[in-house]
Amino acid sequence: MANQEEIFKKIISHAKEYGFVFQSSEIYDGLSAVYDYGPYGSELKQNLKTYWWKAMVQLHEEIVGLDSAIFMHPTTWKASGHIDAFNDPMIDNKDSKKRYRADVLVEDYCAKIEAKIDKEIKKAAKRFGDSFDEATFRSTNPRVLGYQEKIETILSRLGKSLEAEDLGDVKALIEELEIACPVSGSKNWTEVRQFNLMFGTKMGSTAEGSTDLYLRPETAQGIFVNFLNVQKTARMKIPFGIAQTGKAFRNEIVARQFIFRMREFEQMEMQFFVAPGDEMKWYEYWKETRMKWHESLGFGQEFYRFHDHEKLAHYANAAADIEFKFPFGFKEVEGIHSRTDYDLSKHQEFSGKKLQYFDPERNEHYVPYVVETSIGLDRLFLLVMSQCFKEESYKTGDREETRTVLNLPPFLAPVKASIMPLVKKDGLPEKAREIFKKLSLNFSVQYDEKDSIGKRYRRQDAIGTPFCITVDHDTVDSNTVTLRDRDNMTQERISIDSLEEKLRSKVSMEAQLGSLI
Ligand code: GAP
Repeated sequence: MANQEEIFKKIISHAKEYGFVFQSSEIYDGLSAVYDYGPYGSELKQNLKTYWWKAMVQLHEEIVGLDSAIFMHPTTWKASGHIDAFNDPMIDNKDSKKRYRADVLVEDYCAKIEAKIDKEIKKAAKRFGDSFDEATFRSTNPRVLGYQEKIETILSRLGKSLEAEDLGDVKALIEELEIACPVSGSKNWTEVRQFNLMFGTKMGSTAEGSTDLYLRPETAQGIFVNFLNVQKTARMKIPFGIAQTGKAFRNEIVARQFIFRMREFEQMEMQFFVAPGDEMKWYEYWKETRMKWHESLGFGQEFYRFHDHEKLAHYANAAADIEFKFPFGFKEVEGIHSRTDYDLSKHQEFSGKKLQYFDPERNEHYVPYVVETSIGLDRLFLLVMSQCFKEESYKTGDREETRTVLNLPPFLAPVKASIMPLVKKDGLPEKAREIFKKLSLNFSVQYDEKDSIGKRYRRQDAIGTPFCITVDHDTVDSNTVTLRDRDNMTQERISIDSLEEKLRSKVSMEAQLGSLI
């Protein structure tokens, strides 16, 4: 079996070959860590966004939406702390001249130890067979316990050094662990320095009259500065939330792993405004609610875990990540943060405008506390692609065949059904187009007549289309078509009149959304 690295490479080339994700400005050799979404990628991304929006806004009477601008008044970023504190610790290797995030070098070192644990577990599982109990093995095997302790010691020291901004100790840790530059192989490092992640730009036509602006590094601030506008116009009572999706920009030092860490990306964020003192209750509520949302995608609980933060961002009093098991290990896909009243208080201070709420039940004015849920849409996209990409072998008669298939949950699939005339004559294309036109009113469907039917099935499997509808010579007389299921490759003959209902029952979001209420 291919190893995880090879699988990940295959996913990246599949994403390009089948029109999901392209390198930005590829004809000019690309722009590092910036990507474009192709015909199927943009549909899948849109479906993910819709699923998030429906679950967060449509299903919650206490949450409303917002679409704030990317450009914001520059004082926003002074108030939010991003100008002073939105930094990553970086270190350069003097031989390769490559720049790295110092904390990521240490985390990658720990990931290698974690890979050793996985290896021990695999070995033991093979040795003990059915009687193997992973939990007991993890908690008793001396070698695994040793590795685990080493990881904990390293990460705890890293967390403490970063918290105390002791960059000298971060460098000392890198040296003690003898971490080498992956490119030059040398341990010839510079000091660790802080690097601000915001992109600057200018607004205005003349050099003297222009204003320095930043491209927003998170969508959240657009929500904070609109807090009262939304609360008053939508007549919201605390606790309530404001949700928005949109682009964010970060000058990441190390942008890699395809669309996992990008310089331009999309966030889906929700700020939940609560009374002071209630924030921990809501923090727990949102941790659980968001994990349930992830599980509703149907990929299995074992692929997710929480990671509670030791080092907190400048605005938070509690924070956890929801991590997913990507082909390159467990990594953050979403953050749940208890942001206290930090942001609203700061905007109040810097703008001189009151950002308070009158609570009729408490009969008092206060600056609300905020619990935030923040998920990266591109990272979610990568999660789905990683989980659904499969290379399968199967039998046709005596022949062993292989296919590449994206087992996308049908409600997320870019194309719900492909309508195919068996041959390009005898009136079959006309009939197929008639069906296409009818279904296209409600579903994203495709008309496909090129190549043999087998090749067409393979192509649809590769983009994750859950159903293929084939129009053949019996169609005209019997008003029926064959409906092929992507996952088990079986075909059934069904009446054209029942197609719409059948598709609706299989591809709508209703069942998944239903599991959330
Ligand atoms: N408003 C809070 C906030 O922005 P964050 O943990 O920095 O918190 C939230 O980001 C989510 O945004 C992350 O969990 C991740 O999914 C996504 N994200 C952050 N930086 C990213 C990047 N460079 N590329 C892609 N996604 C990113």
